[in-house]
Amino acid sequence: MKNRLPFALAMLTALLAFRAQPTVMLATSPSTNAAAPTYAADIAPLIYKNCSVCHRPGQSAPFSLLSYDDVKKRGEFIVKVTARRAMPPWHALTATGFEEFRDDRRLSDQELTMLKTWVEAGMPAGDMSKAPKAPTYESGWALGTPDLVLTLPNTINIPAEGADLYRNIVLPIDQADAKWITAIDFAPTARREVHHALFFTGAANMSSQIGDNDLLPGLNLGGGGRGGRRGGGSAAAATALDAAWGGVGGWVPGITPKFFPDGIAQPFPAHSNLVVQLHLHPSGKPQQERGQLAIYFAKTPPARSLTAVQVPPMFGYAAGIDIPAGESSYKIHDSYVLPVDVDAFGVRGHAHYLAREMKMVAKLPDGSTRGLLWINDWDFGWQDSYYYKTPFHLPKGTRIETDITYDNTPANPRQPNSPVKRVKWGRESFDEMGSMTLMASTMTANDGDALRTSMNQHFRQQLLVMMMGRGRGSRAPQ
Ligand code: HEC
Repeated sequence: MKNRLPFALAMLTALLAFRAQPTVMLATSPSTNAAAPTYAADIAPLIYKNCSVCHRPGQSAPFSLLSYDDVKKRGEFIVKVTARRAMPPWHALTATGFEEFRDDRRLSDQELTMLKTWVEAGMPAGDMSKAPKAPTYESGWALGTPDLVLTLPNTINIPAEGADLYRNIVLPIDQADAKWITAIDFAPTARREVHHALFFTGAANMSSQIGDNDLLPGLNLGGGGRGGRRGGGSAAAATALDAAWGGVGGWVPGITPKFFPDGIAQPFPAHSNLVVQLHLHPSGKPQQERGQLAIYFAKTPPARSLTAVQVPPMFGYAAGIDIPAGESSYKIHDSYVLPVDVDAFGVRGHAHYLAREMKMVAKLPDGSTRGLLWINDWDFGWQDSYYYKTPFHLPKGTRIETDITYDNTPANPRQPNSPVKRVKWGRESFDEMGSMTLMASTMTANDGDALRTSMNQHFRQQLLVMMMGRGRGSRAPQ
């Protein structure tokens, strides 16, 4: 644990900076005996609000938390797991200078104390006639009944072992009218093996060309790479790649599906299909993937759409990630200056197992700084998108900076390699990546185009630097 000190310090700083959350205080608790919280008055509301959405039949969690008996059976375990802040899953830190998030489900210190006090008091039920009713959900989907449910057209067989698989699957929709997507949820059948699913829209008449080609970073640029060799695919893949800048979201382990903020939706033009890119990681047992997608459409055309401002771009493809074995604090940094004004709505990060800390901040032209997202206990299993409680404006000229730190020692609790080994950027699960994405909306469509052009340029510059670096490296004697 010797390498954990910086994290402990960062955690301490974060704890000191903790925002007071509105919560059920013991002293003002509505239970009859203020010293002993009861299930009916105190615990049920907390559990139903923060836990039941996942802890119910058919969802990701391994057991239900929907009744007194459910909770009582695991009382002590729940205290232990929540005290470590392993549950409920929420990795965005609350820290001074960092934005607050909508639907923040991190339990407050008071709530943790209340849980502990309740268990120590023997888990009294209280007046169950006054207990809130367990929440009911109108469908198996967390966001309610979808407007469209699609099943993957084919079953993908995932072998027990071997390299990760990438599959691009076209879901034929080809609807006559333009629509706007407010959310997409995905229910994989091979939950452990799906490493990510990315959703793109594509014109119905071009999707057949995409086939099984690769959409991910870099590999199709310039027509080379695995995708290009299959013939005819690279142009389509490059188009789809461009679409990734305005892609319609994704699914990663641990994500909580959310609607885009009010007034925001992603365009789904008439005669489009949905392309789903699956990254599958063999887990030791043969599995089959044939999941379902739930799509939610806006009732009225939205005022705005979101553009993903990824820093570094393309999941860090050109950021030169090359982490020596045993390196405990390997860092990457990238910064990108906004060419136009935007409103910031949300943020997310992506990396694999070696990343430990990631931070994204905005440095405004007036010299002020806004923290966009800080995670100091990165967990591949719990990637999420975080939406700001209050969207805010970032003027043209704002510098967006991302810093990501990797720990490639055995002390990293999520270290996949034993013995540890050098790890570079790559698409396999045990390769690394690293980027953070601001979900932003421009003021005009023209600004949106300018933003995408500028981001492409930023990526191309990085690519050039990377390629020149490689050229030098291969000539220089090692
Ligand atoms: C976003 C979904 C989600 C929410 C919200 C959630 N859980 Fe979980 N929980 C899971 C999943 C999935 C697991 C299985 C273990 C894992 O994947 O980490 C789990 C596992 C657990 C475990 C077992 C941990 C272990 O080490 O085996 C406990 C205890 C638990 N949850 C309690 C809670 C409590 C209490 C809350 C609310 C305060 C909560 N969870 C909220 C999804 C969730």
